[in-house]
Amino acid sequence: MGRIIGIGIGPGNPELITIKAAKMLRKADVIFVPKVQRRKPSIALSVIKPVLEERDRPPEILELMLPMTRDKKELEIAWDRNAEIMAEKAKCDKLVAYVVLGDPTLYSTFAYLARKIGEKYPKIDLEIIPGVTSLTACAARSGVFLAEGNEILTIVPSDRDLEQIEEIVRYADNLVFIKGVQRLKGILPILEKVGFTKNSLVIIARRCTMPNEEMKIGRLIDLQSWFASEDYFSMAIIKRKGER
Ligand SMILES: C[S@@+](CC[C@H](N)C(=O)[O-])C[C@H]1O[C@@H](n2cnc3c(N)ncnc32)[C@H](O)[C@@H]1O
Repeated sequence: MGRIIGIGIGPGNPELITIKAAKMLRKADVIFVPKVQRRKPSIALSVIKPVLEERDRPPEILELMLPMTRDKKELEIAWDRNAEIMAEKAKCDKLVAYVVLGDPTLYSTFAYLARKIGEKYPKIDLEIIPGVTSLTACAARSGVFLAEGNEILTIVPSDRDLEQIEEIVRYADNLVFIKGVQRLKGILPILEKVGFTKNSLVIIARRCTMPNEEMKIGRLIDLQSWFASEDYFSMAIIKRKGER
């Protein structure tokens, strides 16, 4: 009774869509595209556009509004509503796809939707097609190795509180700060306290592999003088040692 596939479409450059993801994008009857701001065009949709243009028959494309809020009640209502919309399509025997930037298993909205659909409609098949993550894409674009040997790589969502961040980064060799870099300067004293040095390597990547990509490569000491991008599609990679 129906099939819903969460498809990772990579970090932004259509060339980084996997063959398997492209195959499914050419086959799907309905493609759901997450959208956070009503007036701004969907980035995910622009990424998959070249693949969709190869189709003889266009799919039904539906944008799903996802509120950018921490209000749990508001979020629950949105997940329930969106899960219902997707399930309705799958129940009509349509092959349904939901696209996410990067990989669906890494901080993606597909997690909430898949859970809701799985609970309410256990007969719907839920699948995941992995994608190239923004973390690995940013590392590759800057020529940095994220982790070697027995190093600990820690992913820190920048909206965690400072006390938690201090605990988390204490044991990390290398860090990836996601969900924007605006709070990074505030975290600097914590990094120095737990042993990162002025010479630790810092990469700031904005819209990596997208047409307006920006990369900064420097040292922790440079961070104070760098302009912190307000763009949500930014991350920082920090390596305790100074080498790439
Ligand atoms: C909710 S997470 C989604 C991660 C995604 N599922 C993945 O596998 O890469 C969103 C965060 O990923 C990072 N991000 C996603 N795409 C990016 C890109 N092209 N360049 C830089 N950072 C990106 C940003 O830190 C952004 O705030």
